[in-house]
Amino acid sequence: MKQWLISGHEVVAMDDEWLERIKKHQSMQYKHGVVRLMPEGWLYPAAAPVFLDKLQTFEFRSEDVMVVTFPKCGTTWMQEILWTMLHNPNLDNPEASKELLLRSLDISCDMMLDADLWDVVKLHSFEDLFNTLCPGKSLEDGLNIQCLEATPGRRVIKSHFPLQLMRKDLLEKTKVVYVARNPKDAIVSLYHFMRVLQVFNYTASFEDFTRDFMNSELVYMPYWPHVKAAWDLRHHPNLHFVFFEDMKSDIMTELKKLNEFTQANLSLKQLENIADYTTFSKMKSRGEPIQDPMYHKDLLEKHGAYFRKGLTGDWKKHFTPELLEEVDRWIEKNVEVTGICFK
Ligand code: A3P
Repeated sequence: MKQWLISGHEVVAMDDEWLERIKKHQSMQYKHGVVRLMPEGWLYPAAAPVFLDKLQTFEFRSEDVMVVTFPKCGTTWMQEILWTMLHNPNLDNPEASKELLLRSLDISCDMMLDADLWDVVKLHSFEDLFNTLCPGKSLEDGLNIQCLEATPGRRVIKSHFPLQLMRKDLLEKTKVVYVARNPKDAIVSLYHFMRVLQVFNYTASFEDFTRDFMNSELVYMPYWPHVKAAWDLRHHPNLHFVFFEDMKSDIMTELKKLNEFTQANLSLKQLENIADYTTFSKMKSRGEPIQDPMYHKDLLEKHGAYFRKGLTGDWKKHFTPELLEEVDRWIEKNVEVTGICFK
């Protein structure tokens, strides 16, 4: 029997042959399998539909800011910038010492717990947060979603779920900042991240990974419809579209735009301090995990996890000429169809 989401997406379970193929490259398994949500073909753990339907009635607040991104496109950087602008403009809020993912919760993450990541949840104090904010509630009903519901004030909400899967009136309810990044750098960044995560035990070569990325065979894919939905809404007053590359080349200009968009009303001096506080090196020194069992120790020491290089154009060191030709053709075709003007 066909299953549909409230958003109108059809839920299609991936078959055993597909699951077997994926198993070759990664040990992490989702207990309930993997689904595609059609028509775009979003690939998620089968736990996703329950949470996506819950989000259709989630109360977004007009004062919230939601950071929507495809993975590895600058989410963490933007989360820290926005949280600091809204809650720590003078850099004196003791709450800032808490892990970012506890201050800026991820509404697209609860589905990942289907892969039995409860040890990670415990280790990172998520369970303590849940017990404080949601006494009497059940973790299985959504850790991040329920904590967010119970969080007072201006929330900075992270989402890798694309706009197509959100409630239709999202932009009437709340403000969205969308960060897009050159797909070549996103590919390199995601490859390293999948490898450093011990829970994935990801072993595919960079070439195989890149082809899986282009064919949307990895969880959170596809890439293009994700960016296009936000690109098409880039002139909406409640959506702010920004390129990672622009943040890299002139952060002060981007902070001024965010100041206006969020109506944070910060002074130039405060923005300068935030620019400094959120540089790659400062965020890395405060936020990179050390000796965390979630990560492969050697790869973590060598490359980092959330903070690897923080550069634009690092892809130049990774693609062979043949692979680059394939990726360039893929980009050219999709840029033509979507009209997205990458930097
Ligand atoms: P690299 O792997 O290319 O270094 P996300 O937060 O969406 O997972 O994105 C991660 C990418 O953003 C990583 O890219 C990471 O290094 C980069 N990044 C994180 N914080 C940054 C910062 N303050 N400045 C620049 N890049 C940053």
